[in-house]
Amino acid sequence: GLSYVLKKTVVLVGMMGAGKTAVGKALAERLSVPFLDSDDEIVKAANMSIAEVFERDGEAFFRARETEVITRLLEEEVGILSTGGGAFLAAQNRAVIADKGVAVWLKADLGLLWARVRHKNTRPLLRTANPRETLRELCEAREPLYAKADLAVQGRAEYSINDMASAVLEAL
Ligand code: S3P
Repeated sequence: GLSYVLKKTVVLVGMMGAGKTAVGKALAERLSVPFLDSDDEIVKAANMSIAEVFERDGEAFFRARETEVITRLLEEEVGILSTGGGAFLAAQNRAVIADKGVAVWLKADLGLLWARVRHKNTRPLLRTANPRETLRELCEAREPLYAKADLAVQGRAEYSINDMASAVLEAL
């Protein structure tokens, strides 16, 4: 098949449930490049889950760690970087990503996102009285910022992880 040489890190952005982690791993494997994940790095460094970090230290603390981790990973190596859903909202993060990477927005409709996140209890931002409504509001508020990504790839329920990885490669 086609072979690619990455010059810049491909940074996957978008909502929780869009498939950033799964598609990122598949992409990294297909390109034989490192897979990097900002949430994972924060979890490793804190030795706590994301939910625990939010609970104990608050969202602002989490966001500060997220910026540090993204900045460091983009400086250290070229690969595929999956970010947390809020990472691309901060102008500072977008600037670092624009400088060192190519931002790819993994899009998905609310129904698909909800189907993927509803049975999980790992997302602190969805621990509300009406998580589906919260997800809708987050989507709506965030879309104009995700739209600043260099590329967008539309996910669908019938697409496999590998289909999505192929779609990203085509978009690149
Ligand atoms: C968040 C998304 C999560 C994680 C944290 C906050 C967000 O990552 O970073 O719970 O603000 O959307 P995923 O997008 O991988 O679920």
